[in-house]
Amino acid sequence: MELTWKFLVMLVFGSVVIQYIIIQSLTSTSFLMCPAPFNSSSAPFTDPNTTRRMHVLILTATRCGSSFLGQLLNQHHNVFYLFEPLHHVQDSLTGENFLRQLTLGANRDLLWSLFQCDLYALERYMRPPPTNHMVANLFNYRISQALCQPPVCEGVKLGEEWSCNGCGQVNLTLAAQACRGKSHVVYKTVRVVVVGDVRSLLEDPRLNIKVIQLVRDPRGIINSRIEAFPGWYKPWYSWKTSGQRPPSLHVTPPFTTTCEELHSSVSTALSRPEWLKGRYMLVRYEDLARNPLQKTKEIYNFVGLTMTPSVERWVSANTKGANKEQNNNVYSTTRDSVANVENWRLKLPFEMVQHVQAECQDMLSIMGYRQVHSAQELKNMNISLVQETTFEPFL
Ligand SMILES: *[C@@H]1O[C@H](CO)[C@@H](O)[C@H](O)[C@H]1NC(C)=O
Ligand SMILES: *[C@@H]1O[C@H](CO)[C@@H](O)[C@H](O)[C@H]1NC(C)=O
Ligand SMILES: *[C@@H]1O[C@H](CO)[C@@H](O)[C@H](O)[C@H]1NC(C)=O
Ligand SMILES: *[C@@H]1O[C@H](CO)[C@@H](O)[C@H](O)[C@H]1NC(C)=O
Repeated sequence: MELTWKFLVMLVFGSVVIQYIIIQSLTSTSFLMCPAPFNSSSAPFTDPNTTRRMHVLILTATRCGSSFLGQLLNQHHNVFYLFEPLHHVQDSLTGENFLRQLTLGANRDLLWSLFQCDLYALERYMRPPPTNHMVANLFNYRISQALCQPPVCEGVKLGEEWSCNGCGQVNLTLAAQACRGKSHVVYKTVRVVVVGDVRSLLEDPRLNIKVIQLVRDPRGIINSRIEAFPGWYKPWYSWKTSGQRPPSLHVTPPFTTTCEELHSSVSTALSRPEWLKGRYMLVRYEDLARNPLQKTKEIYNFVGLTMTPSVERWVSANTKGANKEQNNNVYSTTRDSVANVENWRLKLPFEMVQHVQAECQDMLSIMGYRQVHSAQELKNMNISLVQETTFEPFL
C-alpha cells in the first residue's frame, strides 16, 4: 500500500517535469534564440543621431513597382540596400518551382542574419560555394549603391549615382563592413508577401524592423507580368495578344495567389495587431507614381531618414515622363515606370479585365481600386480607377 502511494507521487511529479520540458521547448522560438545576442554598442554607426540601426523590409509581389521603391531608399547615403537577397534561397532550394511554404523558414532565417549584416549567410545558398567570401554572382548587386563605392569597390560616380563599372567580385567581408557602417539596412523581396509570415522577426527584440508593403492594382500587375515574362505567363500572353481566351489560364503559382496573399497581408495589417504597431506602412504604387516626391517624403519619414537634395534630384530625374528608350532589362526602374502606371487600361482586353476583377474582388476593394463595367469605362482615362484613400502608417 505504502509503496503504491510513493509510486503515485513520483509518477505525478515526473509527469509535471516532462510537461514543463515540453512546454518550454514549444514556446521558445528555436532558431531565433540560438545566435549570440546582438551587441548594438559594437556596431559602428556613421550617423551619431541614430542610436540603433533601422531594418527596413519591403514586402511585395512581382511587378508592383518595387524596383523603383527600392531605388528611392537606395539613393540615401546612409542606406545599405540589397535587391532580392532571397533570390538565392529560391535558386538553391527550389529551382524553377515556387514551393513557398517550404522555403519560408529559410527565407526568414536568411533575413534575420542579413539584418545583422551577417552577409556570409548568403553563401549557404550559392553554388558553387564561394571561397574567401568572394562572390561573383550576388543577385543584381550592381543596383546597390553601397556595394559600388568604397570601401567595397572603387566604382564610378555618374551624376547622383555610383556605378559598379569596373567592380568585379563582391568581397562579402567588406560588404558586411559597409552594412555595419550604415544607419539603415533595407531589403526588398517579392518572395515573402504576407506580413504575418515575418511576425517572428518583427517581435524579435534584437531586430528593429519596419515593413513597407507595396501593392498595385492587380490588373496592372498582370499586364506588367505578361510584358516582362511572356513565357511564364503564356496563356495570358496569348489571351492579351489574340483576344481569345485560352481553355486554361494556369500558371505557377496561379495569378490568384498574388491577390490572395496581398489581400491577406493587408487585412491583417488593417486590423492593427499590437505586434505591428509603429512598424507597418502600406503604399500603393499608383500613389507613389502620381505624387513621387510627396510619397517619398512620407516613406522617408516613416523609416526615419531625412530627404537630401541629392535624393530629391534623383526622384525628379527618374519620374519625369516615360523613358522611351529601348531597354531590355526587365528590372529597370524607368521602363515600367511611373508615367505608365495606368497604361494597362489601354492594353488589356475588357474580358480579361473582367476575369481579373472577379478573381481579385477582395483585394480590389480593400485597397481602393474601382472595378470597371464596360470597355468604354475601361479605356476612358479621364476616369481614375484609383480611389482617393489615405492609408496612414499605423503608429
Ligand atoms: C559590446 O561591445 C562593446 C564594444 O565592442 C564592448 O565594450 C561591450 O563589452 C560589449 N557588450 C556586451 C554585452 O557584450
Ligand atoms: C544630427 O542632427 C543634427 C540636428 O538635427 C544635425 O544638424 C546633424 O547634421 C545630424 N548629423 C548627422 C551626421 O546626420
Ligand atoms: C576582403 O576584405 C577583407 C577586409 O578588408 C580582407 O581582409 C580580405 O583579404 C579580402 N579578401 C580578398 C580575397 O581580397
Ligand atoms: C477626356 O477629357 C478631355 C479633356 O477634358 C476631353 O477632351 C475628352 O473628350 C475626354 N475623353 C473622354 C473619353 O471622355
